[in-house]
Amino acid sequence: MLFAFDDVQCRALAEAHGTPCFAYSAAVAAEQFTALRGVLPQRVRLAYAVKANPHPGLLARFAALDASFDCASLGELTRVGALGLPPGRTFFAGPGKREAELVAALASGVRVQAEGWEDLARIDARVDRETAVNLRVHPAFDIDEGSRIIGGSGPSAFGVDEEDVPALLQRAAGLRHVRIRGLHVFAASNQRDAAKLRAIHGAVLELARRLHEVHGLVFEQIDLGGGLGVPYAPEETPLDLKAFGQGLSELLARHPWFTGELILEPGRFLAGPCGVYLVRVVRIKESRGTRFAILEGGINHLIRPLLTGQPFPVKAVGQGAGELPYTLAGPLCTSLDRLGEVRLPGLAAGDLLAFGTTGAYGLSEGMTHFLSHPVPPEVWVD
Ligand SMILES: Cc1ncc(COP(=O)(O)O)c(C=O)c1O
Repeated sequence: MLFAFDDVQCRALAEAHGTPCFAYSAAVAAEQFTALRGVLPQRVRLAYAVKANPHPGLLARFAALDASFDCASLGELTRVGALGLPPGRTFFAGPGKREAELVAALASGVRVQAEGWEDLARIDARVDRETAVNLRVHPAFDIDEGSRIIGGSGPSAFGVDEEDVPALLQRAAGLRHVRIRGLHVFAASNQRDAAKLRAIHGAVLELARRLHEVHGLVFEQIDLGGGLGVPYAPEETPLDLKAFGQGLSELLARHPWFTGELILEPGRFLAGPCGVYLVRVVRIKESRGTRFAILEGGINHLIRPLLTGQPFPVKAVGQGAGELPYTLAGPLCTSLDRLGEVRLPGLAAGDLLAFGTTGAYGLSEGMTHFLSHPVPPEVWVD
């Protein structure tokens, strides 16, 4: 589903809340969660990646469905902390953890994903009892991704390079309290092919097996990160959830040495489909053969198409399909402010556009301070 709200709902939301605005459907978010949960083996835990969209309504809805949470900043830890969850339901990852963030995470029993020796040593210096952490490893196997989100298999700011793990483990043997009890490998992004996910996750489990057999590591958890994809265009097929769940079951069966739990940290899959961004056309401009629709909002609210080359689907509310080519521009003072090259019906000033699948990496990634436009309201529709 590309649009969580039909044209009548989009129009009503725009009239009630003004434009630009974001609207999130609680029902669609819950459907995504329960559909995914429903195909997963018991031993797989779902930890929502808060970065995708930290809206409190979304967090509360997922918490009620028994989600765990993957946080990457003190701000996210604080938002999840406000849910009052029992310990053990929150993870904290990030290549540049600041002191206050680490202290807050350790104080509240959050499981830290250590990104290298510095994290291990800093945690060891701050705790006075045995503390389990997960080690994030940047794998040596090829990372096949369609965008630049993970950064491929070359140099990386994330985790410890796989080839450096043996040396790190030797150093870690001298730590007083910190014990590596989990592995974290994130090697997929917006992947809708269940077979590819199966292959990536299989490679992660093989890496875990090597670390177990060669270095004697015992893993309570293997965290496979996020990366489950969603369609952004009518011709894109959704992830085959049944095949995906089956793939994970087969992997668990193939690795009987591993008796812990698998963690998945989807952000886009859980939050993307529930969101719509509503924005009006300010004016139409023809320039040297190009027809621009200049909108009330642009990359200050939706920067993802510019960063990744993945456009969000868009429709002209109440007008049906159309075939006129438009370059969608925002109101900012830069020609980087583009939301896509699209085909829409004939547009005029005041027309309402809806960008679908903007529940993830929409406003949370926008450049909201640039040009000091008002921050759009986010409407939680329950
Ligand atoms: C550590 C970690 N986990 C999970 C995610 C969520 O990824 P996605 O939204 O593609 O599922 C990200 C995204 O950047 C991440 O960095």
